[in-house]
Amino acid sequence: MKLWSGRFKKDTAREMDDFHSSISFDRRLYREDITGSIAHAEGLSECGIITKQEKEKIEEGLLSILEELEEGKLELNTGYEDIHMNIEKILTDRIGETAKKLHTARSRNDQVALDLRMHLKKEIRNIQSDLVRLMKVLIDRAEENLYTIMPGYTHLQPAQPITLGHHLMAYFEMFRRDFERLEDCYHRTNQNPLGSCALAGTTYPLDREISTVILGFDRYTANSLDGVSDRDFALEFLSSSSIIMMHLSRFCEELILWSTNEFGFVEMDDSYSTGSSIMPQKKNPDAAELIRGKTGRIYGNLMGLLTVMKGLPMAYNKDMQEDKEGVFDTIDTVRGCLSIFTPMLSTLKVNKDRMAHAAARGYINATDVADYLAGKGIPFRTAHEITGKLVSHCIEKNLSLQDLPLEEYREFSPVFEMDILERMDPLNCVISRDIPGGPAPRQVQMHINKARMFLEDVSNCSC
Ligand code: ARG
Repeated sequence: MKLWSGRFKKDTAREMDDFHSSISFDRRLYREDITGSIAHAEGLSECGIITKQEKEKIEEGLLSILEELEEGKLELNTGYEDIHMNIEKILTDRIGETAKKLHTARSRNDQVALDLRMHLKKEIRNIQSDLVRLMKVLIDRAEENLYTIMPGYTHLQPAQPITLGHHLMAYFEMFRRDFERLEDCYHRTNQNPLGSCALAGTTYPLDREISTVILGFDRYTANSLDGVSDRDFALEFLSSSSIIMMHLSRFCEELILWSTNEFGFVEMDDSYSTGSSIMPQKKNPDAAELIRGKTGRIYGNLMGLLTVMKGLPMAYNKDMQEDKEGVFDTIDTVRGCLSIFTPMLSTLKVNKDRMAHAAARGYINATDVADYLAGKGIPFRTAHEITGKLVSHCIEKNLSLQDLPLEEYREFSPVFEMDILERMDPLNCVISRDIPGGPAPRQVQMHINKARMFLEDVSNCSC
C-alpha cells in the first residue's frame, strides 16, 4: 500500500509505478535522506511536536537502516517510488506507529530539496579537492619548464615565443577560477529548505534554526515557495562543471595536437594511451579524446535542466524529479575526467627539442625585430613595415631571422647593430618579456610562488 493511498480507490498501474519511480537513481541520496530525517526529528522533539522518546526511537530506527544500506543488506522497492518513501516505509515496518510522526511539518518537496543540497555540498568539496590536485601538478610541471621554449600561437599560427611553463600556468588560472566558481556555488547551495514543507510552510511551531545548525547550513531559505522550487544551485553546479569540462577539453585538444607526429611536442605515457586493432604502429590519445567528448554530455546535462526548469510555475512540480540524473552524471563524469587527466599530465613526456625547433622557425621573433627598431626611435608602425619586408626577404632566402647576416639586416635599416642577432635568440625573446603576467622565467616563477600560496590557503581553510 502506498503511503499516500488514503484518497485513492485503486492502486496505480504497474507501468505507472515504473514510470514515475525515481528509486533507481535517487537511492544515491540515502545518507543525506537519513541524516536530514534525524535532524528533522530532533527539531520536532526540541519544539515539543514529538516526545524525546519518540525522537530516540525514530533516530535508532533510521541509524539501523543506514547501517544496513551501507552494508548493502537492504532491498529498496520501486513500488515505493523514491528514496524518501522507501526509507519511511522501512522505518514504519521496523518501529511501527512512531515512524508515521516523522513526516509531521515536512513534505517530500522540502525533503528532496534538502537531500540534493546536502549531496551537492559534499560533491562540490570533492571536485574542489580534485581541482587542487590538478593545480599542484600543473604548478610542478610549470616550474620544471620555466625555460622550455615553445611557440605561442594565435589562429593556430606561430605567433611569439613563450615557454611551456607560461602556457601551463594559463591553465592554472582557468582551474583556479573553476575552483572559485564552485566555492560561490557552494555558498548558495548551503541553505536549508526544511520547514518550507509542501510550499506554504507549516502550522507547527517548528524552529528552522535547529536543523539548520545540526546539518551545518549557513542559514535557512527565506521563502517557502522558493525553498521547494529553487534549483538554481543545481544549475550553477552544472554550469560551473560545464566550464571545468570546457577547460579540460581545450587542454586535451592541445595535448592531442601536440602528440601528433607533425608536432611531436609531447608523448603521453603508455598507461593513458591505447593502440589500434589493425595498425600496429598506432598510439592513440584516447583518454584525452574521451575527456573532450564527455564535455558534450555535461553541456547536455546543463541544457537539460535549464529546459526542465523553463516555464515551471511555482512551486514544486514533478518535472523537477528530472534534476537528479543529470546532476549525478555530471558529478561522476567530472570526477572521472579529473582522476584521469591529472595523472596523464603528471606522466606526460615533454620533448623540449621539438618545441625549441618549432620555436626557431615560423618567424615568431619578428615582433622582437620591430620592438628593436622602435627601441632605436623608429615609430612602431614604420618598424612593423620594415620588419614585414625583412621577413618576406628571409622567406625568399629560406633563412630564419637568427641566421640572417647583419649586412642583410642593414639593407633594411641602418640602425641594426650586432646585438640584433643575440636579440633574435628565442630564449632572449622570452626573457625580455619581463612584464607581470608575461613569459619571462622570472615572472612565471613569481606567478608560481603566488599560486602555491593560493593552494596552501585553500588547503588550510575549511573549503
Ligand atoms: N521523487 C521526488 C523528486 O525527486 C520527490 C518529491 C516528490 N514530491 C511530490 N509532491 N510528488 O522530486
